[in-house]
Amino acid sequence: MLMLTPHRGLFRPARLRLAGLVYLIALLNSARGQDTSTSMVPRTTSEHVAGSAWWPTKGTAPRSAYAGSAACAACHREIAQLQAQTPMFKAASRAEDAAVLREHPNLDFSEGDFRYALTRQNDRVTLGIENKAHVLSAPVLWAMGNNQIGQTYLLKKDDTYYESRLSYFPALSTLDITPGHSHKLPATLLQAVGDPQQPETAQRCFGCHTTASTVSGSFNADNSTPGIGCEACHGPSAAHVLAARQGKGHAAIPFNPATLSPRDSVDFCGACHRTSADVAVDMPENLGIIGIRFSAYRLQRSRCWGASGDARITCMACHDPHKPLVTDTASYDSKCLQCHATTGHRATAKQAPACTVAARDCASCHMPRYELKIAHTTMTDHFIRVVQPGEEYRR
Ligand code: HEC
Ligand code: HEC
Ligand code: HEC
Ligand code: HEC
Ligand code: HEC
Ligand code: HEC
Ligand code: HEC
Repeated sequence: MLMLTPHRGLFRPARLRLAGLVYLIALLNSARGQDTSTSMVPRTTSEHVAGSAWWPTKGTAPRSAYAGSAACAACHREIAQLQAQTPMFKAASRAEDAAVLREHPNLDFSEGDFRYALTRQNDRVTLGIENKAHVLSAPVLWAMGNNQIGQTYLLKKDDTYYESRLSYFPALSTLDITPGHSHKLPATLLQAVGDPQQPETAQRCFGCHTTASTVSGSFNADNSTPGIGCEACHGPSAAHVLAARQGKGHAAIPFNPATLSPRDSVDFCGACHRTSADVAVDMPENLGIIGIRFSAYRLQRSRCWGASGDARITCMACHDPHKPLVTDTASYDSKCLQCHATTGHRATAKQAPACTVAARDCASCHMPRYELKIAHTTMTDHFIRVVQPGEEYRR
């Protein structure tokens, strides 16, 4: 039986009114071909991709709409020079170009009866596996990841990509089981190669690690540019290059993420760094410490993120996506202190509260690093919060 409590009765009309308003704004925005950035409902990356003219990983533009990062360097020289040094720019490479495999042309590993050899010879990378009964050898096509934490390989058989069972880890200086793969012994040589990827999974893998792998709506890794180039964030910009070369740089301006609301700005980086909305849809409910990899999702849990209306903290408050990561945690203090007071305990309309414990190196205590054992590394927790000394990772 339905009981209408006064509480419900009071809240319902308000919610309906709000929903109506959001719908109206959505309509107005879609009429202008714009993002519904004022929507109160968190949107997943798929929803952003479907609803915006441009969003990272969108693949509707034709290949000819892309100019390539080298073309941008002619005019945006400093940005291009710095961005080329970032791990994002080097997030993938064709196997023969992978620095890790040049430096380590003979890698091996064994488990049970299985012996693995990952070898680079004459510009070709090959994975060989043998057990007592059989031998298998297959070409390695792609190296994913710039080896900050590790590097995983992609092979292809009958039009299916395989994510290698083994990855390289700099902390071990050798191969080990790829995070997420079973630690049980493989039953067959093909299982030892790795996990076959559904077409959509492979497409998403390249979507986050390369530029222009999906064009005119179809996925073809062979056409992509390895790594996150300018146009992975700014969208296809060949028309801008053409106009700018004719001295009309202000026509056909590429997408500038600085125009996004703070909420959408974090969703924008979260297109690859995974937002809470993405995690809610894609990930198992018991997502544990693995969640630390998803910086947008973690940041969105912080009170710095949400507590004060729309004065939200964005990734750009602390990171310049055009520059290599700053690794000295104390140098982030000025970012925290843009919002937090240095003295006094109470939050005001203008300032978030001051720390009662220390005056510098804020991130070292409030954004601690946790060990991610399966990846042989530690990572920074972007869930900014009060962490008591020794406190464990909090979901
Ligand atoms: C021939 C010179 C030239 C080339 C090549 C060029 N740009 Fe530009 N770009 C300009 C000029 C001029 C402007 C407008 C002036 C300004 O605000 O910087 C501009 C503006 C921009 C903006 C917007 C800045 C803002 O204020 O909103 C972005 C983003 C951008 N360019 C990205 C790119 C990318 C990505 C490429 C390569 C695919 C590229 N540009 C290639 C000259 C160039
Ligand atoms: C198209 C996908 C994509 C988008 C969009 C994206 N990133 Fe990344 N980012 C990556 C990948 C992939 C890596 C891992 C690169 C590697 O080490 O192989 C990464 C790594 C990073 C790193 C770590 C660098 C290091 O030294 O380890 C930072 C910081 C970062 N991204 C910030 C941002 C910010 C800020 C934005 C939004 C402006 C953003 N990213 C948008 C894909 C993306
Ligand atoms: C939704 C976007 C997304 C997808 C899909 C994705 N990655 Fe990543 N990947 C990232 C981001 C962002 C990072 C950096 C943060 C981290 O280490 O988790 C990263 C990091 C990595 C790293 C560590 C890089 C380093 O420098 O240590 C490897 C290896 C990697 N990815 C491999 C893969 C492979 C292989 C696939 C597909 C089979 C894949 N990723 C799919 C976004 C993605
Ligand atoms: C990981 C995403 C990402 C990549 C890759 C990227 N940009 Fe940007 N770019 C941004 C964001 C975010 C902003 C807005 C920064 C802000 O909020 O002020 C921006 C701003 C700009 C601007 C406006 C001027 C400025 O400095 O604010 C230009 C020009 C530009 N980018 C050019 C480039 C070029 C050229 C490349 C490649 C060499 C590139 N970007 C690669 C995310 C990216
Ligand atoms: C309040 C400051 C702050 C904000 C906001 C912030 N970061 Fe970070 N980020 C850091 C610090 C500090 C580190 C660790 C630097 C170090 O010690 O190497 C870091 C490291 C990273 C790394 C490297 C991997 C790791 O775990 O160490 C990635 C990737 C990253 N940030 C992505 C993002 C993205 C994407 C956003 C937005 C969703 C974001 N960050 C927002 C401060 C911030
Ligand atoms: C964009 C502004 C902004 C930035 C930048 C920012 N914060 Fe905050 N932070 C806030 C606001 C607003 C609150 C919530 C205050 C409240 O509700 O009383 C908050 C809350 C906190 C809290 C209390 C959390 C809790 O759960 O009680 C801590 C700790 C904190 N911030 C630390 C940091 C640190 C460390 C940095 C830099 C790495 C940082 N903040 C950067 C705005 C910011
Ligand atoms: C040595 C570790 C450490 C450092 C460094 C540190 N904090 Fe804290 N901070 C703490 C602890 C522990 C608490 C909780 C104190 C308590 O329980 O009363 C706290 C509390 C806070 C709070 C909550 C205050 C409140 O009234 O709710 C904020 C905000 C904060 N810190 C911000 C910062 C900022 C900004 C910096 C850098 C200027 C910083 N912290 C440096 C350990 C640290």
